[in-house]
Amino acid sequence: MSVFLIGFMGSGKSTIGRMLAAPLGLPYIDLDHYLEQLQGQSIPALFEALGEAAFRELERDALHALSQGRSSVIATGGGTPCHFDNMAFMKTNGKTLYLKASPEELAMRLKPELGNRPLLNGQTRETLPGFIAELLAKRSPFYDQADIVVFTDGQTKQDVVRRCLLFLVVNS
Ligand code: S3P
Repeated sequence: MSVFLIGFMGSGKSTIGRMLAAPLGLPYIDLDHYLEQLQGQSIPALFEALGEAAFRELERDALHALSQGRSSVIATGGGTPCHFDNMAFMKTNGKTLYLKASPEELAMRLKPELGNRPLLNGQTRETLPGFIAELLAKRSPFYDQADIVVFTDGQTKQDVVRRCLLFLVVNS
C-alpha cells in the first residue's frame, strides 16, 4: 500500500518522503518530478504554458498512473489533495500523511524559494505571510482529511520520520 505525503509547499514532503522510503523498503517518487519527466518541462514552464486548470488535470492523471504501479512513498504537490477527488483517491489507495506547519514557519521556509514556485509568482517577502495564511486556510479542509496529521514546527526531521513510521507500523 502506498504512502502519500501531503501538505503545503515547503512543508517537507520531499525530504521526509525520501527518508521514509528506505526503512519502509519502498521506492520514493516525487509527483512533481514524475510529471516533469513525463512532460519534458519544468513545473513553472507547465504552469506558464498550460495554465493552472490544465496543470491540475495532468497532475491528477499522474497521480492515478503512479498509484497503479507498485507501492511507493509518494510526495505530492501542495495543491494535489485540493483538486478533483484526489484526496479521496489517495485515501482509497494508501495511507495519507499530512505534514502540517504553521503559516509563520512556512513563510520562513518559503522566503528563499520565491521565484521557484509558480503559485508564489508576484509575492514579495512582505506579502508572503498573508498569502500563505489565506491559501492554507482554504486548503486545510482537504489536508485535515489525512489519516494522520504530523505537526512539524519545532521538530527535527528525525522526529517527524519517527512519528510517521510509528503510525505506519501501527496502522499497516
Ligand atoms: C503547488 C505546489 C508545488 C507544485 C506546483 C503547485 C501548489 O509542489 O505542485 O507548483 O499548488 O501548492 P510543492 O508542494 O512540492 O512545492
